[in-house]
Formats: sequence, C-alpha cells, structure tokens
Amino acid sequence: MIKDETSKRASFSGRLGFVMAAAASAVGLGNLWRFPYLTSHYGGGIFVIVYIILAVTFGFSLMIAEIALGRKTGKSCISAFGDLCKKYKWIGVIAALVPLLIVPYYCVIGGWVTKWFSMTVTGDLSTLAADGGAYWWDYITGNIAGMSDPTLWFIIFAMLCVFCVVVGVDRGIEKLSKILMPLLLFMMIGITIYEFTLPGFWDGVVFYLNPDVSKLSGGTFLGAISQIFYSMSLAMGIMITYGSYMKKDVSIEKSTRNISVIDTVVAILAGFMIVPAAFSMGLGDSKGMGLMFMSLPQVFAQMPAGEIIAPIFYLLVLFAALTSAVSLLETVVSVFVDLKKIRRNDSIGISAVLLVLLGIVSVMGFGPWMTNFGAFDQGAGWLGIFDTVTNSILMPVIAILTCVFVGYVIKVHVITDEVEAEGNAFVSKRVFEYMIKYICPICLAAILIFGLLDMFGVFSVY
Ligand code: PHE
Repeated sequence: MIKDETSKRASFSGRLGFVMAAAASAVGLGNLWRFPYLTSHYGGGIFVIVYIILAVTFGFSLMIAEIALGRKTGKSCISAFGDLCKKYKWIGVIAALVPLLIVPYYCVIGGWVTKWFSMTVTGDLSTLAADGGAYWWDYITGNIAGMSDPTLWFIIFAMLCVFCVVVGVDRGIEKLSKILMPLLLFMMIGITIYEFTLPGFWDGVVFYLNPDVSKLSGGTFLGAISQIFYSMSLAMGIMITYGSYMKKDVSIEKSTRNISVIDTVVAILAGFMIVPAAFSMGLGDSKGMGLMFMSLPQVFAQMPAGEIIAPIFYLLVLFAALTSAVSLLETVVSVFVDLKKIRRNDSIGISAVLLVLLGIVSVMGFGPWMTNFGAFDQGAGWLGIFDTVTNSILMPVIAILTCVFVGYVIKVHVITDEVEAEGNAFVSKRVFEYMIKYICPICLAAILIFGLLDMFGVFSVY
C-alpha cells in the first residue's frame, strides 16, 4: 500500500504497478464471499447479468472519475474535493468515513476465514462439512464454543491488519500477492472443474447462468450496484487516493479497464465455484451470507486430496482478504491524520480501538445482541446493518454526489482533460460524459429509491 507521509508523493512505476496495487485492494471478500451469496439471494443468472451490465457502465465510469480526481489534485479523498471547490470538501469527508464502518465487519468475516483455515489445518474439515455445513451458523451464534471463539478469531484477524499497518509490511504483502493472487485464481479454476463431477452440479450451473427475468426486482438493482461499489472499492475515496499516486503518462482509461476486468472475472469465477456447488450439496438457492462457509467445505470433503487442498485454499482467501482489509484500515488511519492533524501512531491507536469496538458489535449481533430489524438487517444482525447502511445507502449517495460534483460543479472536461493528459487517448470520452452528467446520477437515484422501497417491502415497481 501507499502512504502519504512525506511531502514528496511517491508514485507507482507504471501501469502494471498501478493496476496490480489497485487490483490487490479490489479483489477480496467482496468477490469471494459477497458476490456469490448475493447472486444466490437475488435469483442467480439474472443478478449476474445485471451486475455485469452495471459494472461495465456505472462502475467503469465512476472508477475513471475517481482515479482522475485523485491524479488531478494529487490529494487523498478528504482534500481532493475541497481542492477543486472549497464548498464541497464535505463530500470527501463523508466518503472517507465509509471505510471506518466497513473495516470492522470486514474483519469479522476475515475472522471466520481464519477460523476455517485453522480448522482445516488441524484436520477438522469433516466437522465443517457435516450436516450441510450447519457448523457455520452454530459457530457464529455461539452454540458451539460460545461467543468468545468468534470474538477471538475476529481479534486475531483484526490484529493481523493492525500489525501490517504498524510495521508497514504492506509493500511486502503486495509483492507476495503478485504470486498468491494468480495462485488463488488457478485453484478456483481447478476446484470449479472438479465440481463438474458432482451430482446435481449442472442444475446449479443453469441457476447461475440462466437469467430468470421473473426474479428481477428493485432489490436486484440495488444489490448489484452496492456490490459494484463494494467490490471495485468505489464511492469511499479509495480510488481517489490510488489515483493521486499515479504518474501522468499512465493511461487512466486502460488501467481502469484492466482493474475492472480483473475484479469482475474473479467475482464471476468465485460465483461459479460456490453457487452451483451449493445446489449440488442440497443447499438449493440458500440465501444466507454463510454460503461460502457452508458449501465449499462439503466440496473439499468429497474431493480427492481435499484435506490438503482446503487449508491451502483458505490461506489464499485469507491473504486476499488481508490485502483488502489492510488497504481499508490504512485509509481510516490516514483520514484521521488528515482530518485531525494527529500523529500517525496515535491515529493507528484510535483506529484500532474503533475497529475492535465496532467489530464486537457485529460479532455479538449473532449472539446476545441479536436484533430484528426486519428487511433492514435481512437476518444478518448488526453485520447486515453495517453492510446495508454502507453499501446500499451511503455509497450510492456518495456516487450520486460525485457525479453531480464532476458533471456540474467542476465540469466534466476537468476530468476528461486529466484522462487525456500527456496525450493519452480517451476512447470512451463521449459515453463517459453522458454517463457522469445524466445516466449515472439519474439511474443511481432511481435504483436507490426504488431499491429501498422494495427492500422495506413498501412496494415493488418491477
Ligand atoms: N473491494 C474489496 C473487496 O472486494 C473491499 C475493499 C473495499 C477493500 C474498499 C479496500 C477498499 O473485498
């Protein structure tokens, strides 16, 4: 990861360096955990199609806008908006606060991955796979080892992140991730190929790839757009910060295309590995966020050499989650430094305390602090509330504000000029202008309003 500690800004060596760093932040639990379970929740193939369409239009345009904003100003998210127009600094401030709400519950899921890794290392794969993967729910609700065990694993993962941020091993992590990420992809492909031998897998493939229009709802669009922001690390200031470290002669458009393609391919592949397998394991279109933790252990349990493959796989997932979580935490830390002008070490301390406190709320939300907010938490307790508030409410609002800021306050040409700086061609310039000025803000507002109405069961227009 990159840090803004010195007055002289470091930058990525070239496009490959930039794309790899941004992809390491983008590819994480969003692709491996959230995309498959949302696909299953929103009816399979239809969600996949809506996701892809929105990713190449909305996701792509917003990522270009954010990276260009960052490179133009050379500032992180908090200062970038204010730099271009003082009155609008607050947009950057709200965007920068989103990672603070995401990183704690991200670490809770990271804790589950770490636990699954430790269980498979010690040869407990069969426990995870038994009874259709029922272990996951029993574990997080404290029926197996009380709430202290999920709390412990959350804290282990969180402290791993804090450690990385403190000692700044992030560059090392990044180097390592260049080897481990392709390895993870390779394993995912291998696991998916194996799954074709499982009975009932084809029915799952049909569910995953065949769009059933009757399952379309306002929620499908809101779910897909929330997933795009989450997975592509948009609408929370991260890509603005990354852009601020990009050299002028590197093409923003080509880099954005590379990052979004990598992120989308990993998500689709993760879905292919997890969603149809859930079918073949008799979980049907199981709707919960435990999908990855329930279906995969059963696949590994049946696989030849599954006991060896499972821990390697969970280790790689752990790594992908860690690179993303570290980049989130790093943002939180730099936000406090920027906002409150405090020392970096103090900021790390404050961030770590907040991380643990908010994370414990999510952990306990499956146990003694279980809530019932109906549609709002969708049965996922406080973790679901943090997830919904950030991804389905705050991020669409921030994205709309960013479009309005770029389209009408500073004007689109400021961004398109930046994309074309040093003679880089901006192939989709016209489309981009229309997207940012009209299509994105209007459609995002519609998606947000109708999606929320649908989610709360007020009415459904689709
Ligand atoms: N995009 C990451 C994922 O898919 C999550 C993340 C968001 C990471 C923002 C860093 C910054 O898991």
